[in-house]
Amino acid sequence: MSPLNIVILAAGKGTRMYSNQPKVLHALAGKPMLQHVLDCAKALQAEQICVVYGHGGEAVPQAMAQYEAEFVIQEPQLGTGHAVRQAMPHLDDNSLTMVLYGDVPLIQLQTLQQMRVAGDGLVLLTVNLTQPTGYGRIMRDADGRVLSIVEEKDATPEQRKIQEVNTGILLAPTQMLRHWLAQLKNNNSQGEYYLTDIVAMAVAQGVEVHTAQPAHAWEVEGINSKTQLAVLERTWQRVEAQRLLAHGVTLADPARLDVRGTLICGRDVAIDVGCIFEGTVSLADNVRVGPYSIIRNANIAQGTQVAAYSHIDSSSVGANCHIGPYARLRPGSHLHDDAHVGNFVEIKNSEVGAGSKANHLSYIGDATVGARVNIGAGTITCNYDGANKFRTIIEDDAFIGSDTQLVAPVRVGKGATIGAGSTITKDAPDGELTLSRSKQITINGWKRPVKQAKDKK
Ligand code: UD1
Ligand code: CA
Repeated sequence: MSPLNIVILAAGKGTRMYSNQPKVLHALAGKPMLQHVLDCAKALQAEQICVVYGHGGEAVPQAMAQYEAEFVIQEPQLGTGHAVRQAMPHLDDNSLTMVLYGDVPLIQLQTLQQMRVAGDGLVLLTVNLTQPTGYGRIMRDADGRVLSIVEEKDATPEQRKIQEVNTGILLAPTQMLRHWLAQLKNNNSQGEYYLTDIVAMAVAQGVEVHTAQPAHAWEVEGINSKTQLAVLERTWQRVEAQRLLAHGVTLADPARLDVRGTLICGRDVAIDVGCIFEGTVSLADNVRVGPYSIIRNANIAQGTQVAAYSHIDSSSVGANCHIGPYARLRPGSHLHDDAHVGNFVEIKNSEVGAGSKANHLSYIGDATVGARVNIGAGTITCNYDGANKFRTIIEDDAFIGSDTQLVAPVRVGKGATIGAGSTITKDAPDGELTLSRSKQITINGWKRPVKQAKDKK
């Protein structure tokens, strides 16, 4: 196959978004629209990717700096044909060029691959719409051969009845495309250089024009407003939910799930309502996620139960753990198998060994906790002196009494016990009871103060 260039048009202003941000940077499923298209372009293994941008200064190239792409400014914006023309100096003649759109975010790889095998010459991606208003119509002859595209604004009432429309996405031999673009005129109702006019040029030149259709109509939906963005977001979430259901995941309500990234599930996974998954999340066999949990960039091993309202971010959780309700695992938390983390427990940049428990109201930060450790309610690792962070080490089988402060750097030895209410500033030896509490005393005969009588004159 010939090498492939991809030109992504992203110069439109997006007036109807009523936003200071360039339209293509608005997010769908947690990712800027343009990034969806760039990821798809990357998956197609394009030789060269060229993004034509216009509004918002350098915001677009800056936001997409991680991609190996050429960013070309189109200023002023004189139509889609003019936009593609800006990219041409960066494209090699000896290749094919595909045109995609930064505001058509859900185009799928398989559809574009279909276009690549549709035939030589010019390939158009078209779709049949019962409500074709606003789109360019595909004109065909009696034998079904494509003749041209007529824009809505230039179409006769008869032509407007045609339901096959131009999605705008097309594939053309680069050398021909360059030649056609150079000949575009703007003598139409909008005074623009229409990319679509290359179709009639190809036909006049005897170049074959093929068409392909997307597998799903939502792939070619373009976004011009927040309303359209919200509708397409729900469409995509429904697609994600159907995909999970088809793989055997139990969803309490497919309409109340948000996947903003990649969610990989094993067998017999169950997800309750209102959960949000961000980045890459994997849930192994028999994992259950309770309602309104938010899980981002995490691996959760089999049989673990995440109860309601838990937050897990950039962490890993072993098998058969119990998390939450209301637990928070911040980045760098690693729980080994059978760990329990209960309500109002925050864990950050810490390891928690197998079978260890922190069931209530604790902060475990920058700590290494061994196996079978019991962390009593209200325990706090004091990891920060206002300037630097220090580690707390709690060895296997230790028992930390409730309401203990462990002032890092500090070590609690194997099997050590810390008495409740202690402030531990020095290492606690293995196997011993250590406490720092002042002794309890009783003052016999002590009386509570009584309200004094006011002086009467
Ligand atoms: C275009 C097609 C139409 C098709 C429709 C699908 C043309 C002439 N018409 O019409 O056949 O049915 O898309 O949605 O191509 N853009 C630039 N620079 C410009 C102009 C546009 O980058 O100078 C970008 C826009 O940001 C947008 C895309 O190109 O992403 C389409 O432009 P738009 O003006 O919306 O074209 P339509 O009139 O919708
Ligand atoms: Ca449009």
